Amino acid sequence: MKEKLNEILIAAKEEIGKVESLHELQQVKSKYLGKKSVLNGLMRKIGTLPKAERPKFGQTVNTAKADISKLIQNKQQDIKTKEYADKLESESIDISMPGRRKEVGSLHPITKVMREIEDIFISMGFEIAEGPDVEDEAHNFDALNTPEDHPARDLSDTFYIDDDVLLRTQTSTVQIRVMENHKPPIKIISPGSCYRNENDASHSPMFHQVEALVVDEGVTFVDLRDMLKIFVKKMFGEKIDSRIRPHFFPFTEPSAEIDIVCVKCYGKGCNLCKGSGWLEMGGAGMVDPNVFDRLGIDSEKFTGYAFGLGIDRIAMLKYKIPDMRMLFENDIRFLKQF
Ligand code: DAH
Repeated sequence: MKEKLNEILIAAKEEIGKVESLHELQQVKSKYLGKKSVLNGLMRKIGTLPKAERPKFGQTVNTAKADISKLIQNKQQDIKTKEYADKLESESIDISMPGRRKEVGSLHPITKVMREIEDIFISMGFEIAEGPDVEDEAHNFDALNTPEDHPARDLSDTFYIDDDVLLRTQTSTVQIRVMENHKPPIKIISPGSCYRNENDASHSPMFHQVEALVVDEGVTFVDLRDMLKIFVKKMFGEKIDSRIRPHFFPFTEPSAEIDIVCVKCYGKGCNLCKGSGWLEMGGAGMVDPNVFDRLGIDSEKFTGYAFGLGIDRIAMLKYKIPDMRMLFENDIRFLKQF
């Protein structure tokens, strides 16, 4: 009997030693300790033994069972420890590897400049007005005193959507929309997108302007000149003066073009200003009485000035951007710099 038990113990030890998974271990366990195991079979034979031998026999079988059970428990622990170690190994994190960074976006240079312009004018008591990019001829041309045969109305210059509907070519349209709805005093700026059929290093089919309109009793050309001087200095620094030159716009009389001292050479003359010492910034003038009359504003009582500046041009000068198209190609390497 003892021998038989020893054999079983050796066999069990050997099998348990070979086991590699908890599943296999479970099978070995039921083979040696389960109801149909050899050990249980032996135990059932206890009845056939003489009474005196029974306790001893029972004890021996139980000890064998306990030994096997211990072996199985140890094995189970070994397997679990190994599985855990494997898991740690396979899921290990290389902390020397660079992490995945979340890219932080930045404002587009046009947006930045637009906000800066808005802040300057708001600090001087202006309000922000808005108008639609898709306009009608009435607001883009007629109300701005632009004759039927004006070249700007040509299909080759303006993007028409329909006979009468177009993409606004200037933010001056907002002057009209504001005056349609508000009586003077008026003091607004209106930044926004404009569209013209042109495309080269200094022109983009979509570009940006900021329009200003001030209407009240006693507004003069000097107020216009001074406001431009103040704005330009706030935007580009004390050294940058501005001037106005006679020009023509259908909706202002007199009209002027605005120049600022070259931001690169401070007026000495360089490649940026083509030797003149000045850079063009936009148009301006005193609101033409014809414009007031159409809108039912008393042109005997009120006067007003208006101007329109190129925002893209301001951004290009501020950030030293050589080609206007770079602003709208949306190359991330370019945009990241701002
Ligand atoms: N809208 C004109 C343009 O796009 C610029 C301009 C000129 C705006 C005179 C004005 C102005 O308000 O008074 O060329």
